[in-house]
Amino acid sequence: MIHESKTALEVDRVTLELGGRAILNDASFAVHTGEFIGVLGPNGAGKTTLMRALLGLVPVASGAIRVNGEAVVRGNPSIGYMPQIRAGLANRRVLGRDFVAMAADGHRWGLPHRDARTRADVERVLDLVGARQLAARPLSELSGGERQRLLLAQCLLGNPRLLLLDEPLISLDPRHQTSVVELVRRVQRELNITVLFSAHELNPLLNSLDRVLYLGNGRAALGTVDEVITKPVLSRLYGSTIDVMRVNGRIFVMSGDVEIDKLDHAHENGNGHQHEHEHEHDHGHAHAHSHGKKGTHTHDV
Ligand SMILES: Nc1ncnc2c1ncn2[C@@H]1O[C@H](COP(=O)(O)OP(=O)(O)O)[C@@H](O)[C@H]1O
Ligand SMILES: [Mg+2]
Repeated sequence: MIHESKTALEVDRVTLELGGRAILNDASFAVHTGEFIGVLGPNGAGKTTLMRALLGLVPVASGAIRVNGEAVVRGNPSIGYMPQIRAGLANRRVLGRDFVAMAADGHRWGLPHRDARTRADVERVLDLVGARQLAARPLSELSGGERQRLLLAQCLLGNPRLLLLDEPLISLDPRHQTSVVELVRRVQRELNITVLFSAHELNPLLNSLDRVLYLGNGRAALGTVDEVITKPVLSRLYGSTIDVMRVNGRIFVMSGDVEIDKLDHAHENGNGHQHEHEHEHDHGHAHAHSHGKKGTHTHDV
């Protein structure tokens, strides 16, 4: 039987520094195996940096991180990672199935051709995300939500126990956001794996997450929504007065009269489909834009 620690992730008095600046400062928290954690916090709070630290790509300045009970190691096969930058996929003619398989060939086993085991694993992950049909089509013909399914399939290759999904919703309209979150939730439960899912907005995750990890001001707060999404906790993380309002099962985090996640990320303008285009421009550089009538902006992906 595979050894499995009850604690998927232990962060013990960890400081992470980039360019001489502390991104995370003496933070401690622990995530249990099988939890779905929403990783939230303002732009630049360190969500991506934390994930990269779990992958061994950012060294800890002090403290210790343990993943599934083991010290951090690069190329850890027990972690599946969906990086934040995913521009350019929309132009690719490669078939969905080959795209998923490329991750197996390239990143995990380094084999020049696919062996039977790899092929079986590709079919397994396509089934898990319900993408067998999609996989017969080229990426360029898929919607953003459909491509997201294939990216999730890639992360599941090799049976990781911890998934790090960095802003999987950033390019999607609200309807697709919900379906991606629900898909991740279903797969996460089916496999009893742990998920860290970063996002700018809490609401799409509300029905699926077990706990929230909120980052800000070099600090981290991990707890239930009721414990963390509160005026005192968020005011401490933002370093200014934050109000929390609940309306019809949705939660609004406000700074003055501005909704926090709208400060640098206007996600909705009411027509509900503008974000579908986000990664489909052909400039070839790693930013995204919306085609909404108003609130057009640039993400710092
Ligand atoms: N290579 C780097 N060198 C110095 N600073 C960096 C580097 N990468 C990111 N940062 C900074 O670290 C902070 C955290 O960034 P990041 O982890 O990307 O935040 P988030 O994902 O929450 O938006 C930001 O202030 C960012 O500008
Ligand atoms: Mg990020």
